[in-house]
Amino acid sequence: MNKPAELPMDRAGDPRVNRTVDPILDPAAGHASTALDSGPTPESRPQVGVSRAHESAHLHVSGEAVYIDDIAEAHGTLHAALGLSPIAHGTLVSIDLELLRRQPGVVAVLTAADIPAENNCGPLLHDDPILAEGELRYVGQPVFAVIARDRELARRAAALAKQAIVATPHPAVLTAREAHALGQYVIPPMHLSRGDAASALAAAPHRLEGDWAVGGQEQFYLEGQISYALPQENQALLIHCSTQHPSEMQQLVAHAMGWQAHQVTVQCRRMGGGFGGKESQSALFACVAAIAATQLRRPVKLRVDRDDDFLVTGRRHGFDYRWSVGFDDEGRILAAEIDLISNCGHSADLSAPVMARALCHFDNAYWLPNVAMHGYCAKTNTQSNTAFRGFGGPQGALAIEMIVDGIARRLGVDALTVRQRNFYREGHDLTPYGQQVEDNLLRPLTDRLIETSGYHARRAEITAFNAGSPVLKKGLALTPVKFGISFNVVHLNQAGALVHVYTDGSVLVNHGGTEMGQGLNTKVAQVVAHELGIPAASVRASATDTSKVANTSATAASTGSDLNGKAAQDAARKIKRRLMPLAARLLGCGEDALVFDGGEVRGGGQALGFKELVAKAYLERIQLWSDGFYATPGLHWDRAKLQGKPFYYYAFGAAVAEVLVDTLTGETRVTRADVLHDVGRSLNPALDIGQVEGAFVQGQGWLTSEELVWHPKSGLLLTHAPSTYKIPTANDMPRDFRVALFDAPNAADSIHRSKAVGEPPLLLPFSVLLAIKDAVAACGAERCDPPLRAPATPEAVLDAIEAVSSAT
Ligand code: MTE
Ligand code: MOS
Repeated sequence: MNKPAELPMDRAGDPRVNRTVDPILDPAAGHASTALDSGPTPESRPQVGVSRAHESAHLHVSGEAVYIDDIAEAHGTLHAALGLSPIAHGTLVSIDLELLRRQPGVVAVLTAADIPAENNCGPLLHDDPILAEGELRYVGQPVFAVIARDRELARRAAALAKQAIVATPHPAVLTAREAHALGQYVIPPMHLSRGDAASALAAAPHRLEGDWAVGGQEQFYLEGQISYALPQENQALLIHCSTQHPSEMQQLVAHAMGWQAHQVTVQCRRMGGGFGGKESQSALFACVAAIAATQLRRPVKLRVDRDDDFLVTGRRHGFDYRWSVGFDDEGRILAAEIDLISNCGHSADLSAPVMARALCHFDNAYWLPNVAMHGYCAKTNTQSNTAFRGFGGPQGALAIEMIVDGIARRLGVDALTVRQRNFYREGHDLTPYGQQVEDNLLRPLTDRLIETSGYHARRAEITAFNAGSPVLKKGLALTPVKFGISFNVVHLNQAGALVHVYTDGSVLVNHGGTEMGQGLNTKVAQVVAHELGIPAASVRASATDTSKVANTSATAASTGSDLNGKAAQDAARKIKRRLMPLAARLLGCGEDALVFDGGEVRGGGQALGFKELVAKAYLERIQLWSDGFYATPGLHWDRAKLQGKPFYYYAFGAAVAEVLVDTLTGETRVTRADVLHDVGRSLNPALDIGQVEGAFVQGQGWLTSEELVWHPKSGLLLTHAPSTYKIPTANDMPRDFRVALFDAPNAADSIHRSKAVGEPPLLLPFSVLLAIKDAVAACGAERCDPPLRAPATPEAVLDAIEAVSSAT
C-alpha cells in the first residue's frame, strides 16, 4: 500500500519516460553507451534501457509470488514465538520455564542457555544477544522462544512473558539527549572537519544557531521478519530467510551454532520489502529458528506479527542536532559546526556506518569551506536502530537543508537562490571528507527543473494566493540531492554471479543480490540478455542462495544492480567469448564480425540461432556456464580519519513540492510534486521511475506522518501497529506527481552507464517538509522562521503556526 514502487506496470509507452530517455528507448538508436563485443547495429534490439515489467509482476498481482510463509511446510514443522522483555532496563533473575512448558501445544522453550555457541546476532560489534542473558535492555527484547505445534499456541504461551520473566528493574535511558548528556554511546564519537570552523564562525557577518530533531522511521516492509529452518543430513541447515544479507545470516547462524559456514545454507527468492530493515536484523529470527530446528530435529518457522516486529527490531535512527553556522550577506555559508546525535538503541548494529554516511552527507549539494561535524551514537534502552533507505544520508543532508532554509528566511531571500549560491562548483568541489565532486549535475539538473516546474511563476502565484487566503496557505520548496554511491566500507563493494546457459539456449542467472521489490533481478536478467543478444524472456533469475554465490555483500547502499549487474555481465561475457570461435567457424567469418543480437548470431552475411550455436557448442564440449565477479575500482577510505574516496560516483536529483496547509486543523496535502532525478542511463526506466516515486512517498511519510512514540516512563514503544503509526497510503501521494529522469550517462564506468536509484530519491521529499514550513511562514511576520518539527504531523504544524502567529 505504501509502496507504489512495487506496482508492476510496464511503462514503455509512458510519456514521462519517452520524454526523458528517448535515446535509449528508441530501438533504432541502439545502446551507444556500451562498447560491446557485438557493437550496436541498425537492427540491434537492446535489452537494457528499456522499460520491462518486473520479472515477478504477474506473480505479485496474482498472489502466486512465493514469500517465505508461502513455502509449503515440511512434515513436522513447528512454530516459534518470542517472549519479550516487559521492562526497559534491568537484571534478568529467572524465567519460569515450567509455566511456559505447561501451556498447550508447547514443545520446548529456549533461552540463552540453549544457544550452542555465541549468543550474538550483531553484525559488526558482537554486542547483540539473540536471547537476553543477564541484562534486559529494552521493552520488547527477546528473552526466550516458545516452540509449539502451531503458531497460535506458540504466541499464546510467549504472551505470558510478563508472568514468566523475573527481573530487577534499573533506571532506563530512553532519549538520545539523555544518553548524550551521560556520555553513553555505542561507539566512540566521530569527528569530521575541514578548515577552521570556530574562527570562521566568529568572523562571519551573520550567524544562525539551531536546535532541532527528526524522528526515526519504521521500515514497514509488508512481509514481516520471518525465517524457516529445516535440518539437513549430517549436521546442516537450510534456512529460508527474508533477508537482504544471506551471507551474513549464514555466518551468524554458524557462529551461534559453533559450526562451519558450509553447514548452513541460506536462501531467499524475494522479500516483501526490506528497506534496510532486513540488512542485519533478520539475523535474530534466523538464529532462533536455526537453534530450535537443530535442537529439536524438526523444521521450525519463526514469523513475528506486526506488533512484535515493531517491538523487537529497530528502524531508522532519529537524529538530534545542534548547529551554528556563519554566512555572508548573500547567504553563502562560511562556516558550520554541528553536533549530530543519533538514537542507536541498545546496541551498535549498523550505527557506526550510518553515522559515517550522515557525516558524509551533511554537505549535500553545498560547498562548506569550514566545517566541524561531531557524530554521537547515543546508547539508549530502546530497539537497536539500523539501516533504512538512505542509511544516515537523509539525516545528514536534512540538517543542511534546514540550515539553508533558515539562512534564506533570515535574509529575506528565496531559499532556492541561497541554495544555488552555495552549490558545489568548479574550484569549490572538494567534500569535507576529501572526495572531489566530479560530473556535478546540480546546476543543469536544477535549472531544468526550475524551468519545467515553472518554479518562479508559481512562487509569485503562491504569494498572491496566500495574501488573499487567511485559512488555507500554500507553500513551495525546491530541494536538491547529491548522494554518494558505494558502501563506505571499501571491501563490501564486490559481487559475484553465476550464469548457466542450457543446451536449449535458455539462461539461468544467479547472483549475490537479493530481490526486495526493487527490480534487481529484472535488471540483472536484462544485462545478461543484452550481453548474449537474446530476448529477456529467455533469461530467468533464481533465488539468492549462499551455496551458489559465496561471501556476498548485503543488497544495500543502492549498489545491487551496480555490483551484481557487472558481475553477471562478466559471467555472460566469458560464455560469449567461449562461443565466439565456434560461431566464427560456423559462419565463416572473423570473430570481430560477430554480432549477438535478437536471439541469433550474425556474421559474414549469415545468421545462426543462439539456440543452435549453444547446442553445437555443447557437442563440442565447450563450457556453457560461468561465474562472474566485480569489484568497484578506485575506492579508498580511512575510517579513523573519515577521509578518502568512499563513493564511486554521485547520484543527483531535485524536487519541487507544493503543499496546501489547513491552518485550522494543521492538515497538509501535497498538491503537486515535480521531480527530476539522475539515474545515469537508465537500465529500465519504468523500474527506476517506480523507485523514485516509491522513495519520494516513503520519505514524505517519514517527514510528515510517521511518528514514533515511546512511553516516557516504561519505555514501551506505543506506536507499534498501523493503528497508531501512520505510513503514507496511495491517498497521500502528490495529487499531481511529475517524475522524470535526467538522461545523462554516468561518467563513471558503471553497468551500462546507469546509476543506482534505490535510496537517493528518498531525500527528494525534503521539499515537502520545507514547503510545509514555507506555508506556515505565510502565517507569520515577514522573515519569520517557523519552528516546525519533523515529522510535520498536524499537531506539529499547528504548534508551528501558533508560534509564528503569536510572535506577530
Ligand atoms: N524498493 C522496494 N520496492 N523494496 C525495498 O525494500 N529497499 C530500498 C531500495 N528500494 C527497497 C526498495 C533500499 S534500502 C535499498 S538499499 C535498495 O532498494 C536496494 O536495492 P538495490 O541496491 O538493488 O537498488
Ligand atoms: Mo538500504 S538502507 O542500504 O538496505
